[in-house]
Amino acid sequence: MAGLRENYFPGLEGVMVNESALSFVNGAEGKLFYCGYGIEELASNCSFEEVAYLLIYRELPTASELEAFKAKLVAERYLDPHLKAIIVLTPKQGHPMAVLQAMLAQLAMHDPEIADRSIEARRRKAIRIIAKMPLIVTYFDNLRHRDRTVVRRDDLSHAANILYMLTGKVPSPEEERIFDVALTLHMDHGCNNSTFTARVVASTEADIFASVIAAVGSLSGPLHGGANERVIEMLAKIDSIDEVEAFVVNLLETKTKIMGFGHRVYKTMDPRAVILQELADALAKTKQSDGDLGIAMKFMEVARHKLDALGKRDIWPNVDFFSGVVYKTLGLPQDFFTPVFAISRVVGWIAHYMEQMEGNRIYRPRLNYIGRELGSPFVPIEKR
Ligand code: CMC
Repeated sequence: MAGLRENYFPGLEGVMVNESALSFVNGAEGKLFYCGYGIEELASNCSFEEVAYLLIYRELPTASELEAFKAKLVAERYLDPHLKAIIVLTPKQGHPMAVLQAMLAQLAMHDPEIADRSIEARRRKAIRIIAKMPLIVTYFDNLRHRDRTVVRRDDLSHAANILYMLTGKVPSPEEERIFDVALTLHMDHGCNNSTFTARVVASTEADIFASVIAAVGSLSGPLHGGANERVIEMLAKIDSIDEVEAFVVNLLETKTKIMGFGHRVYKTMDPRAVILQELADALAKTKQSDGDLGIAMKFMEVARHKLDALGKRDIWPNVDFFSGVVYKTLGLPQDFFTPVFAISRVVGWIAHYMEQMEGNRIYRPRLNYIGRELGSPFVPIEKR
């Protein structure tokens, strides 16, 4: 049938789907802002809790507002026994991202305010989700790797408690700072795939849990948050700095995508990668292992050079290239890298959920139909 095919935008590239006051990505200059503030300034001056407040309330907190917000997060820093009992039954070989999705669904089923759609209830649910997501995955990790579970510490910051629960050791102030900055850097990022997913689900007026669960699924993919695990897998195949060049050449010759490189919006170095590279460097100086930083630095140099030579001047390291190096040096298990991304990005998903609900209109795009001729004669089963 004529006239059905229309122009479309593969991957929705360049399509504006809404307005937002939350974050802005300047892809040409490699800049990122949360609520108007530059990411570098927030990363050097604010804690995870402070930036989370900023995204949820769209204002920086006063000292007393921040203390109250932190207290609310700590008050929700626990898992009910029935939730722990379900995690005990969870297959130990399961990926923590799947565990997160499953347990967020459990949290939703037990949430006392699931049917309350008021803004106040939504904010309380948001606090519960942000506080409990780290507990779900750290409890799961404790069960699969240790014969005991680490009990949370209410006197530690959000970042320090996560490291403590994962490693059983209170982090040094430097380790805490580095992990806190890494969390801050991942919190929001314009209309990335998982945030768009969260907004799409929100637009149906589904509850905040449904939106976050869907977003976790989106983030798990290797082209999105799953890339940080793949970067470390890729670097682990290189035994020494001398092998880097041949490895990169082989990737490019076989047209294998370089994990942790390329971005839909950034056409220069991702500003988060710049900071993470500095963090990885600072961390390597205090540790015995550098988490493959030496190989990663050589990889970046060779890959940039070879990509330039191929005329691919706009493919640069993204946030996922150095985050895995930082997490590995901090002693986090490899399948925890994407969950750590989720634990941070959930703040952005929640902020976007709330923003979407203000003046909501359901997302309902269309698909160009390219299938069988419309009105094709139906063939009964016995004649097929
Ligand atoms: N390695 C080699 N070539 C690449 C890469 C890469 N990582 N990324 C893009 N290209 C090439 C691609 O082959 C294509 O070349 P050609 O035009 O000759 O076919 C061109 O650049 C455009 O690529 P695209 O895949 O159409 O670009 P996109 O905007 O649709 O995809 C991306 C963006 C991030 C999915 C992609 O760059 C990619 O797959 N990167 C590797 C995975 C990754 O690191 N993902 C994390 C993204 S940032 C953080 C996050 O979202 O979690």
